[in-house]
Amino acid sequence: MTDLLDQLFETHSLTKDEIIDALRMMEDPQHKSRLFDYANRTRLAHYGPRVFMRGLVEFSNYCRRDCMYCGIRAGNRNADRYRLAPEDILACCREGYELGYRTFVLQSGEDMWYTVDRLTDILGMIKGEFPDAAVTLSIGERSRSEYEALYKAGAERFLLRHETASRELYESLHPNMSFDNRMECLRMLKEIGYQVGAGFMVGLPGQTLEHLAEDLDFLHRFQPDMIGIGPFIPHSDTPLKGSKGGTVDNTLVMVAFARLLVPKANLPATTAMGSLDPQGREKAIKAGANVVMPNLSPTSVREKYALYENKICTGDEAAHCRGCIEMRIKVSGFEVDMGRGDSLNWQEPV
Ligand code: SAM
Ligand code: FES
Repeated sequence: MTDLLDQLFETHSLTKDEIIDALRMMEDPQHKSRLFDYANRTRLAHYGPRVFMRGLVEFSNYCRRDCMYCGIRAGNRNADRYRLAPEDILACCREGYELGYRTFVLQSGEDMWYTVDRLTDILGMIKGEFPDAAVTLSIGERSRSEYEALYKAGAERFLLRHETASRELYESLHPNMSFDNRMECLRMLKEIGYQVGAGFMVGLPGQTLEHLAEDLDFLHRFQPDMIGIGPFIPHSDTPLKGSKGGTVDNTLVMVAFARLLVPKANLPATTAMGSLDPQGREKAIKAGANVVMPNLSPTSVREKYALYENKICTGDEAAHCRGCIEMRIKVSGFEVDMGRGDSLNWQEPV
């Protein structure tokens, strides 16, 4: 007799109520290991044993927003702020390119010092020197015309986690931000032609199983090219200090569901997973993830990009991170792929 998990594995589709019921089944360890097995088989069917490597450059920790959970929120007076100059960002990419990376993820707080003109120059320098590399931006909310200009300047991918698909929970965590605008940004990015990444945190204060089902249902309906899912980890300089935070176990379940509901997505094993558990990223790969994002930022700024505490690899050189992750992937029985690793859902514009 088949059940909801079999249905999910065979059709990659469940209604929101069915997702809730399937999440409740996870109390039984046998169902949970079946979920991980189905997710791993789905990822093997689309990507084989390959794990794509993306080089992450955290180029600024200035942020105009005040997300309650985030260590670089504007209201955190203890954050030691930095901005990388365009040439420094280029130097990180150069080092990454020499190490074999063919995707650079440029991430920052919402820092308006980086105007579209400045960002366009940076993209021009990177694409001019490394035309075969893909550039992903993760810089938060901008206007449609800005997203269009950045796409034209060569950014082909954009990560913007929806954070939570529950309006009520979103509003409780994001003062002076709009849930509708966040969702609209995701839709605009897709329309413009970017490979788009959505995603959410697990273990937010007040988050219920129903909220998580909403997140998974949103991913299923939106069908993003990339999905970032990580545990919420409290930071002591934020209003959510002292919260419990998410667990690796619960996050793994979400990663596996996301793989089954959006089978072709590029799905990273996040740094937050590795920060909570030394084996966190390996576990995520076995639960359906197929991407890792080692850090290329200069070691002098790594500790300052503290979204949460006890983040891993803050003292390690880029070459060290590259080697360390490769070893972890191989030991887990998977293979490193240094290619661009474009989304299987996405067609290169002609
Ligand atoms: N500012 C950009 C944006 O809003 O998309 C990109 C940078 S933002 C700091 C990157 C991601 O970090 C967020 O989307 C959020 O999910 C995650 N994050 C922030 N604070 C966190 C925390 N305390 N624990 C885990 N993840 C966190
Ligand atoms: Fe910077 Fe949330 S605090 S985007």
